[in-house]
Amino acid sequence: MDNFTFHPTTKILFGRDTENAVGAEIMALGKKVLLHYGTGSIKKSGLFDKVVASLQALDIEFVELGGVVPNPRLSLVREGIELCHRENIQAILAVGGGSVIDSAKAIAFGAVSDKDVWDEFFVKGTPVTQALAIGTILTIPAAGSEASPHNVVTDEENDRKLAAHGAGMLPAFSILNPELTMTLPAYQTACGAADMFAHILERYFTDTPNVDFTDHLCEGALRSILKNTPKVLAEPDNYDYRAELMLAGMIAHNDVLGLGRAGDWMTHDIEHELSALWDVTHGEGLAALFPSWIQYAGDNNPAAVPRLVRFAEEVFGITTGSDEEKIQAAVAALKSWFAAIGLKTKLTQFEDFDESKIETMAAFVIPAEPRGSLIKLTREDVANIYRLAR
Ligand code: NZQ
Ligand code: ZN
Repeated sequence: MDNFTFHPTTKILFGRDTENAVGAEIMALGKKVLLHYGTGSIKKSGLFDKVVASLQALDIEFVELGGVVPNPRLSLVREGIELCHRENIQAILAVGGGSVIDSAKAIAFGAVSDKDVWDEFFVKGTPVTQALAIGTILTIPAAGSEASPHNVVTDEENDRKLAAHGAGMLPAFSILNPELTMTLPAYQTACGAADMFAHILERYFTDTPNVDFTDHLCEGALRSILKNTPKVLAEPDNYDYRAELMLAGMIAHNDVLGLGRAGDWMTHDIEHELSALWDVTHGEGLAALFPSWIQYAGDNNPAAVPRLVRFAEEVFGITTGSDEEKIQAAVAALKSWFAAIGLKTKLTQFEDFDESKIETMAAFVIPAEPRGSLIKLTREDVANIYRLAR
């Protein structure tokens, strides 16, 4: 097990009606608030009115900035930063999914920096240590941004989707009411489940030895997502099933499951190119790629085989056959599960997918040295994984 520092600072308010506490929570962070949201779901569901009522009840001054789209755009982040300066904003309230929260985070750290937000934190990768205070009300369990020190933004002019990291962007509080996720279309629920599943796999597929405790946590969490996602899709208004997924999405990415172990994260980087070029929904892009990454790792790195076999046995209950057969059966089972929850499992199923871009995408994923934990991938390996996933 590796050394680690773990200092989660996000207060989680979980359960029915917790959104009613938003006024009191945000008031503790600042007197003037930017209310940041997406393209309409919170107005349709009535959540927007509830939030406004909660703010008004406590005379909290706020400025609105809506319009965040999935794969949030840099142009809106820049607009938000300007707005924060102009209006002297002290805290940001993000109401929505990972895209809204990520946009809010970028605005929050961009607003307190004298450097260009994109160049400094996304391209150069300077860790984020300071930001305006952020609170969130989560409406889709998926990205885990509600309690993660990460965010991902798309520079739409240059087709680049990059992540920034740092504890300075952790939300001060996040409100998670499973009832607020009942309005989600089945497709978004499934994409969210695929994303949280992938967040655990990225941590599970490690080359760090002696991580038995977190291995077991990961396996249990993966089995729970496998079990509960179809239940949510069958009964979208079932509070208990929704609650299971919402908790899983947060724990999958707040790094409890990654303590003391290196994460792999290559499938995420490989997917971000799909989102950047063709606006692919992140969770569905992962569903189309992860089985191929597993197969490729098994075929090309003998040292990865024991862990992949353990995955087959512990997560999918595959106990018969050779090591190779078990890995193949796990790949097939994972693909079938993604297909059963309604997601694409091949890149050629995406209308815009253009095979001629594979080499360029691979060059962005691996600019220089090989990367990854369970298997170190060269640029050529990444191109091969895109081809395998076609
Ligand atoms: O725009 P609105 O109207 O809010 O609609 C959204 C959007 O169209 C809709 N939606 C959300 N909650 C709803 C709802 N519709 C009905 N009822 C509700 N309760 O769902 C659509 C998707 O929302 P989005 O925020 O894009 O989803 P998600 O939470 O999956 O976020 C995806 C983004 O997060 C990034 C992804 O790359 C992607 O850009 N990620 C962020 C991470 C992080 N910050 O730590 C890690 C992840 O790996 C991921 O990369
Ligand atoms: Zn993800």
